[in-house]
Amino acid sequence: MAVMTDEEIDPLLEKLGAAQKVRLLTGASTWRTHPEPAVGLRPLTLSDGPAGVRGETWDERETSLVLPSPTALAASWDERLLTDLGALLASEARRKGVDVLLAPTLNLHRSPLGGRHFECFSEDPLLTGRTGAALIRGIQSGGVAATAKHFVANDAETDRLSVDVRMDEQTLHEVYLAPFEAAVEAGVWAVMSAYNKVDGVTMSASPLLDRPLKSGWGFEGAVVSDWGGVRTLLDTARSAQDLAMPGPVGPWEAGLLTALERGLVPAEVVDDKVRRLLRLAARAGALGSPRPAWRPAVAPAAQRALLRRAVAAGSVLLRNDGQLLPLAPSGLRSVAVIGPHATAVRIQGGGSAEVFPDAVVTPLAGIEEALDGAATVTYRPGLPPSSRPRPLSRDWSRDPRSGEPGVLVRLLDAAGAELHSEHRLSGRIVEPSVVVAGAASVEIRALVRPPVGGTWTWAVGGWGAISLSVGGREVLSGSFPLDSDDPTRVHVAPPEHCASAGLAAGEEVEVVARRSLAPHSGVATVLAAAPPAGEAASALAEAVAAARAADVAVVVVGTTEQSESEGHDRESLGLPEGQDALVRAVVRANPRTVVVVNAGGPVALPWHARVPALLLAWFPGQEAGGGLADVLFGRSEPGGRLPTTWGAAQDDVPVLDTAPGPDGRLHYEEGLHIGYRAWLRSGAAPAYWFGHGLGYTGWEYEELTAPAAVRAGEPFDVQIRVRNSGRRRGREVVQVYVARNRSTVDRPVRRLIGYAAVEAEPGESAVAVVRVSGRALAHWSPERHGWETEAGEFTLLGGRSAGELPLTATLATAGGPLPPGSGVPEETDQAGERSPLML
Ligand code: BGC
Repeated sequence: MAVMTDEEIDPLLEKLGAAQKVRLLTGASTWRTHPEPAVGLRPLTLSDGPAGVRGETWDERETSLVLPSPTALAASWDERLLTDLGALLASEARRKGVDVLLAPTLNLHRSPLGGRHFECFSEDPLLTGRTGAALIRGIQSGGVAATAKHFVANDAETDRLSVDVRMDEQTLHEVYLAPFEAAVEAGVWAVMSAYNKVDGVTMSASPLLDRPLKSGWGFEGAVVSDWGGVRTLLDTARSAQDLAMPGPVGPWEAGLLTALERGLVPAEVVDDKVRRLLRLAARAGALGSPRPAWRPAVAPAAQRALLRRAVAAGSVLLRNDGQLLPLAPSGLRSVAVIGPHATAVRIQGGGSAEVFPDAVVTPLAGIEEALDGAATVTYRPGLPPSSRPRPLSRDWSRDPRSGEPGVLVRLLDAAGAELHSEHRLSGRIVEPSVVVAGAASVEIRALVRPPVGGTWTWAVGGWGAISLSVGGREVLSGSFPLDSDDPTRVHVAPPEHCASAGLAAGEEVEVVARRSLAPHSGVATVLAAAPPAGEAASALAEAVAAARAADVAVVVVGTTEQSESEGHDRESLGLPEGQDALVRAVVRANPRTVVVVNAGGPVALPWHARVPALLLAWFPGQEAGGGLADVLFGRSEPGGRLPTTWGAAQDDVPVLDTAPGPDGRLHYEEGLHIGYRAWLRSGAAPAYWFGHGLGYTGWEYEELTAPAAVRAGEPFDVQIRVRNSGRRRGREVVQVYVARNRSTVDRPVRRLIGYAAVEAEPGESAVAVVRVSGRALAHWSPERHGWETEAGEFTLLGGRSAGELPLTATLATAGGPLPPGSGVPEETDQAGERSPLML
């Protein structure tokens, strides 16, 4: 179907009056835009992104395929895979009627404490840009808009609605804007402006939306606000912000027409916004003739296979002493699987990115399935059950009305009369499936049969008047006024209020939680419970005994739902209590121990040097266990290379702060030097460098070939010959960095300028052709406000991580300013090929 051209869109604008135009620029609802029958425009549906496609509802019954976290995807350094996964997201979006996917997140891992790092790709702008671009190409191949977010400098969560980020111009262009430029170069159809300020201006009114985004890079799509990010009228309306989401209420809906009529906002500015919205709609098939109905292009089994492959592709093997991995199933009689995360695996991070899986393969299930009875598998959690209440689930609660596993949710009027009821599968209700006029409170009611007796901890999440009764006895009652305007805290993860109640094992009790509803304080309600605190010493002793008795122990450790989530930064990089001790005890009991880390971003690994095999699984998505077992038992190589440097301890990390000062400003004082660049500058060595990751074979770096000289802004190729020195076929991610001594401008000690993956059989050589963009040698000149290259010599370094670069060459250039348009990131061959999975 041909997409409308601007020549066809412009006449449509003329058919619209001022009121019609203005109406289009604010959402019609939380996830939709307004239709405009006069021009054949249907509503656009927008949805998060990026771990899967949630769709218009926030309902655990509406399941989605769940991808590995973006950190895991970036760890694959595999653009072909990313494009395939983008196509899978597009297919999910089409299945759910979504036109605009609110992904990818292109902010950077500046401080490892950033609460939303699982959702961003990397600390490196080039890797982030190329990973994002590949995903964007895949998503948009299915006729679904991708949205590069959050433009720009939303690199942490603390005070994200108001923080005023300050950085120098060179850093802004070279580091934080660069991934967005790559997204625009990849043809992204939408960009989301961030909540925060940069240089004192809120991003929905920022001049950066015009220059560089639109007039500098030539972005033709629409700038969508972050949810609630348009908070004022005139400055945002006059800026290059195009669409204010969500709606129907907002500053533009309330005042833009009057402002336009009074000449306070120029008519051309509003026209440009509408034109861009229509262009977005045309590209996404919402303008003009309806697009063909969606048909699944790929069978569910193939989709799951792709997700499983992605788990292995993103898993990073940090160490593998004595080649403990891969494990040969034929030589194993027994495996001890240890750690709460082996059964309660975290497949994704929290916040707006969250989607609901249909089914999850846990690490334990994956290992059991892979061994298929060939070896005994013993599971021990190693830690007592968490005292942190978890939302009621189908495991031990049922709906008192239907008797079905789950809970009963009711909306009540002010007198307590039922207006609506529905059966739900979880005690965490972000929204009931309907909006009911006159509803004054939400109630969650369940019959709970406690598997163990004793003092249970209960929690009710929400705002306003809250009450809880257990077995007819009121155990909690209070008023909790709204204390935040962050949408995640208000609508997705409201605070929980705890109480305790004694229960007898196996004896069913009715539990009723209520919260009142008030304007602007959301409807999210949570009913959660935790069993009595168990005995830590005996849980640990059982795990140690199981480890000692087994041929191999696999310990899965990780972060909690609370620690890695949108809306707040992490307080610590440490693993939740007890897990470090568990790892140490298991390794002491069995020297053949594999530690698997289940976290979206860096965690402190104080014991890492004593662990023989350390595998980073990230948040692996729904196929976690299958992909993990593929790696453990050698069906797949661990394909991942670190997209972010890992320090052993929090105190070692050179850039940590995420909190603004009392003036509301957060200064990026380290400038260009984040991630491995910061470690290099400090002279300290991290535990594992950016780019590091072991496969199951070895590689010799034999030769680097590069041109001796290039012109300023000229792209070039670096060829690196590597040889597979191990015993099995493998894939190697060959990386090229650039350094320059005696630079007159600030520059990192070295920085990544290109990479390419090669595969080879044992003994075979392969040549990685690394395309390097014409921008690679350049820096941003704040004096000239443009890119230029210093004259003289640069050192190229080739190898397998930012800390292991055995090959070098010298390259000379006469330098000079870069011609406009030069230096945009090059597509690699692998990304250029059309994938069979693309729609
Ligand atoms: C997040 C965005 C998200 C939006 C809609 C915001 O709070 O920052 O990333 O797309 O909500 O859920």
